[in-house]
Amino acid sequence: MSERVQNRELKAKIMSADEAAQFVNHGATVGMSGFTGAAYPKALPTAIANRAKQEHDAGREYGIRLLTGASTAPDCDGVLAEADALSFRMPYQSDPVMRGKINDGQLNYQDVHLSHSGLQVEQGFFGAIDVAIVEVTRITEEGHLIPSSGVGNNVEYLEAAKQIILEVNEWQSLNLEGMADIYRVPYLPNRTPIPIINVGDRVGTTYIEIDTTKVVAVVETDAPDRNSPFKPFDEVSEQIAGNYLDFLEGEVAAGRLAYDHYIMQSGVGNVPNAVMAGLLDSKFENIQAYTEVVQDGMLDLIDAGKMAVASATSFALSPEYAEKMNREAEKYRKYLVLRPLQISNSPEVIRRMGLISSNGMIEADIYGNINSTHVAGTRVMNGIGGSGDFTRNAFASTFISPSAAKGGAISAIVPFASHIDHTEHDAMVVITEYGYADLRGLAPKQRVPKMIAIAHPDYRPLLEEYFDRALNNADSFQHTPHDLTTAFDFHNRLNAAGTMQK
Ligand code: COA
Repeated sequence: MSERVQNRELKAKIMSADEAAQFVNHGATVGMSGFTGAAYPKALPTAIANRAKQEHDAGREYGIRLLTGASTAPDCDGVLAEADALSFRMPYQSDPVMRGKINDGQLNYQDVHLSHSGLQVEQGFFGAIDVAIVEVTRITEEGHLIPSSGVGNNVEYLEAAKQIILEVNEWQSLNLEGMADIYRVPYLPNRTPIPIINVGDRVGTTYIEIDTTKVVAVVETDAPDRNSPFKPFDEVSEQIAGNYLDFLEGEVAAGRLAYDHYIMQSGVGNVPNAVMAGLLDSKFENIQAYTEVVQDGMLDLIDAGKMAVASATSFALSPEYAEKMNREAEKYRKYLVLRPLQISNSPEVIRRMGLISSNGMIEADIYGNINSTHVAGTRVMNGIGGSGDFTRNAFASTFISPSAAKGGAISAIVPFASHIDHTEHDAMVVITEYGYADLRGLAPKQRVPKMIAIAHPDYRPLLEEYFDRALNNADSFQHTPHDLTTAFDFHNRLNAAGTMQK
């Protein structure tokens, strides 16, 4: 297997994960590959977790500061959280164990716009990067790294780190080579325009160049990426997909969109994936995606001849589709470009593309403010991810969600969002199974009936009652009326009685 490590100098550094973990000391800031269950190191996290347990058992302190591209998997974020091996995490996570520790106050987490994360590392916001741990498909004779199933912030971490540990994963298809397009944004203050005009433009190299003298260990692995499977489509997700298509048809009718020129961004999650399935039977052809992750639905669109090209930073494929990608990477390589996160999520390029963004949400309020991250204002779910990068810069931004969660106990439309990730100035269209609320061109009060119309019927009277109270509240001004004493009654009822219903 060391055929995948062709550089002689690096071949000499092959060792076990446990040996390599000895380079990762207490207090280290570690930049790791990994993006939504793809391309994360498969062996080092467990080895570091084991080291943490040994240190703790011996009564010694051990905790590292972990920076990645985005979320990873149970055998990365999960094992590290379980072993209390972390003291800080950024910029995104979605692991249940880790989420629990963050919400219990045991782990510090900074939830960062993904397009900012690499830049902030370069600018030293997180201090020095001690170790970069990065999974690759292979290492060339020159010591160049061929990325695996995601790029994320790898370039920034490899560049900034004092020491580098590489994992070479034999499970990753060698045919991924050629998919990556590594373009380095010059450091501030010497930034230049990113020369990407069309979604599929390739402007960099297919490999990452590193200072090989910084490499302290190379670890060989053979383990699959581990994304969770998507939930099967149900009636609600099919209705949402239908309403999303109605919105797109409306854009075509208004002359803002053409059937053969639709550039999409699609967020992570079950609902965005269902929306993509809806596009299979639509009139849209030559669909392009300038997005963050390649999802199952995109492979289906490529197979159906409906998708021309997708630019992303990583895969976010279910286990079944990850295997399919591995078998057919040679074919998919013609349609896919994997870019560094600073490029895939670049506000500059996104604005140029004129794309339509669609992301999931926790809740929206009657004026169109969006909460993507915190249940009832304080329990963090995952993080903002790239939703802000795309929403703020899309030509039209949409949020999609079932109108209610947890069997109807939670309304996705509330009087006042309990945490605001995307303001009413950025969110343009909100879509549920009951239709779409097009908030563009409307003053706050004009948006309210549209938002109430897409709420779950059980909650509509409560929302109307609130709006009426806000309008008649003598203490409120009339541009964005609120009744602050009852604005969070939905959330207070949820906390007290487990349901937002009265
Ligand atoms: N209160 C409590 N839980 C809620 C909720 C709410 N208002 N809305 C959704 N949830 C729960 C669901 O019940 C579900 O929980 P379960 O897994 O225990 O069943 C879970 O969140 C996922 O919800 P689902 O309806 O299946 O939607 P999703 O998979 O599309 O996820 C978000 C929705 C908001 C969690 C997800 O989109 C997210 O993390 N977004 C922020 C990051 C982002 O937008 N990234 C895209 C960047 S390109």
